[in-house]
Amino acid sequence: MSADVKSLIQEGADLTDRALEELIPSADTVPTSIHGAMRHSVFAGGKRLRPVLAMQAGVTIAGALPAGIERLGAALEMLHTYSLIHDDLPALDNDDLRRGKPTCHVAFGEAIAILAGDALQTRAFEVLAHLDSPPAATVHIIQLVSNAIGTVEGMIGGQVLDIESERLKPTPELVEAIHRAKTGALIRVSVVAGGVYAGADAADVARLDTFGRKAGLAFQIVDDVLDLTEDSEHLGKTAGKDQATEKATWPAVYGIEQSRRDAAQLVDEAFAALQPYGSRADGLKSVARYLVDRKN
Ligand code: IPE
Ligand code: IPE
Ligand code: MG
Ligand code: MG
Ligand code: MG
Repeated sequence: MSADVKSLIQEGADLTDRALEELIPSADTVPTSIHGAMRHSVFAGGKRLRPVLAMQAGVTIAGALPAGIERLGAALEMLHTYSLIHDDLPALDNDDLRRGKPTCHVAFGEAIAILAGDALQTRAFEVLAHLDSPPAATVHIIQLVSNAIGTVEGMIGGQVLDIESERLKPTPELVEAIHRAKTGALIRVSVVAGGVYAGADAADVARLDTFGRKAGLAFQIVDDVLDLTEDSEHLGKTAGKDQATEKATWPAVYGIEQSRRDAAQLVDEAFAALQPYGSRADGLKSVARYLVDRKN
């Protein structure tokens, strides 16, 4: 990772962490178990890539980091963390390691983990409702985000397809539908919402949507590759899990080498959508490049 993108991601992650610290009730707030559980998962060491994508999309549209965008980033990170807590539950992927720590249900029990996921989701929407953007932009962001994590081509729909496709022979169409929905949709909306927060018009939204769709698919392809090529310690989550549970993954359809090529090509294609923004999109592009070059 170049020094520039490293510091850009680090700065975005720090801003996000400070906002999350303020926005999530303290661990001694009653009922303490759930606030401890929410904090356990949120502050376990995520990369904060969705907030960073939102921030850099904001820079692409506004030319500078829009004030208060870290609260949009924090809400996106709460939604992502909720999806991870539920993804790890025994009824879904049944994982005991996440972000290098015991999963939420291992540390706090299943009931509190389910409720911690629910609570991160509701808190995220409360935070979105209080954003500093003009009211019309705030409503637009809430519409986009709720749709992206919903059942029709959104995160929950993708999780359903993922679970129901275990042990089936995956087709290219099936794995693409799963990946676009379970992971791609939240990445895409992170980019678009960051743009809307910064004042994007309809043409900007369309460009950011195209960029986010391609980058989001590339992100999950890389997640599948890393599951096969890295170890658990390095990933901070159980490696080799997809093969063990016969998940419908990109490498299961295309092999590792083709998967890597596909991810790189998707990011190249994504860049084309940002051409009108010139150097203002450099930060967003460098984060997208990192999405496919990352090792965890
Ligand atoms: C992992 O996402 C889960 C997927 C959607 C593939 P990240 O790789 O962004 O995980 P964290 O947030 O850094 O833990
Ligand atoms: C997770 O996909 C997608 C969501 C959490 C919505 P995975 O099941 O591949 O994610 P990891 O590999 O457990 O992080
Ligand atoms: Mg899963
Ligand atoms: Mg999983
Ligand atoms: Mg995975």
